[in-house]
Amino acid sequence: MPQLTINGRNMSVEAAADTPLLWVIREQLQMTGTKFGCGAGLCGACTVHVDGEAVRSCQTALGDVAGKKITTIEGLSEKGDHPLQKAWIAEQVPQCGYCQSGQIMQAASLLATNTNPSKDEVVAHMDGNLCRCMTYSRIQRAIMRAASEMRTASAATDRRHT
Ligand code: FES
Ligand code: FES
Repeated sequence: MPQLTINGRNMSVEAAADTPLLWVIREQLQMTGTKFGCGAGLCGACTVHVDGEAVRSCQTALGDVAGKKITTIEGLSEKGDHPLQKAWIAEQVPQCGYCQSGQIMQAASLLATNTNPSKDEVVAHMDGNLCRCMTYSRIQRAIMRAASEMRTASAATDRRHT
């Protein structure tokens, strides 16, 4: 029985090793924030983090993530207050909302290593995450806003430690 570490909790699941991680997350673990879009690696609605990297969970086999650290939108922050989540609200990003968990998880993997991305870097990083409601400009603004908040918070922490 594969053991998963998902959102900081150890879980055992009953599924074959070639089962897509997306099905395990949604059907077995009932964590429905991660969405099924195309099922073919083409839209990004199913994006989660595996060891901090954004991956398409519809294209990730359960057997390949055993023992790795998986994070879904439910585990991105304890209280739904990740700078990206706050920026998404401030910029009123979602329309239908279906793609947005994947968008946020994709963006979070960028800001985890680069809190000062250029607009071109944001566009390139988000390129494979589709939104049929065309919220792209609001997504980009929200990422820039979150990055700015993260830089401000980091500068404040640095000041406290000097
Ligand atoms: S559902 Fe996985 S990329 Fe579209
Ligand atoms: S908000 Fe509707 S698909 Fe993106």
